[in-house]
Amino acid sequence: MKPLTLQHGAAVTVRHIRPEDSDLVFEMHTRLSPTSIYNRYLRGYAPRIEAIRGMCQINPKDGAAFVATIPAPGETVIGMAYYIIDADNPMQAAAEPALLVEDRFQMQGVGSYLFRYMVNHARMRGISRFTALISASNEGISRILQQSGLTYSSQYAHGTRDICILLNAAFKPEVEKLAS
Ligand SMILES: CC(C)(COP(=O)(O)OP(=O)(O)OC[C@H]1O[C@@H](n2cnc3c(N)ncnc32)[C@H](O)[C@@H]1OP(=O)(O)O)[C@@H](O)C(=O)NCCC(=O)NCCS
Repeated sequence: MKPLTLQHGAAVTVRHIRPEDSDLVFEMHTRLSPTSIYNRYLRGYAPRIEAIRGMCQINPKDGAAFVATIPAPGETVIGMAYYIIDADNPMQAAAEPALLVEDRFQMQGVGSYLFRYMVNHARMRGISRFTALISASNEGISRILQQSGLTYSSQYAHGTRDICILLNAAFKPEVEKLAS
């Protein structure tokens, strides 16, 4: 994928998560705004360190997880993405995705980059759809979906939306260029 550089010039690296990332991922969570925590977890509090350790040790048969990092000062985790395969319905080849970017690095393309990276990875695993429950007021993720050009459906219920994203079709041509 084309490299991504932040507004202040830092190069963003996206790579598979590792068990030793748990402290950095936890620290990122301590810097999140209440809105970002709510939009990611649909509740008012971030996960505890034990749950974050679990996220950092995902078994490849269950899905995949990635972190976005910048190099200075030391390696800093500024975002993450992961998908968990729906093991109950293997014929559907479905997975539940999640995306998170630290507030001070939002609106600089990191979320879109992580999304394209995760979709590429899931496609290679044969996943054909992502399904997720999101807050109905989550404009960031809605915009990422619209810009991707992927087909998705969305069903509103009680302040949330059930979304189903089809991964079989290509991204929009301009997004495909960035994703390849
Ligand atoms: C949703 C989220 C991942 C987006 O990350 P990001 O790095 O800001 O996304 P990008 O910079 O790639 O933005 C993509 C587009 O969405 C727009 N956008 C991003 N956040 C937005 C917001 N809160 N309101 C309106 N538009 C927004 C950007 O302006 C950009 O559009 P543009 O190209 O027309 O300018 C990030 O806001 C986040 O982590 N939120 C908290 C967790 C969450 O909501 N996760 C998703 C559900 S699991």
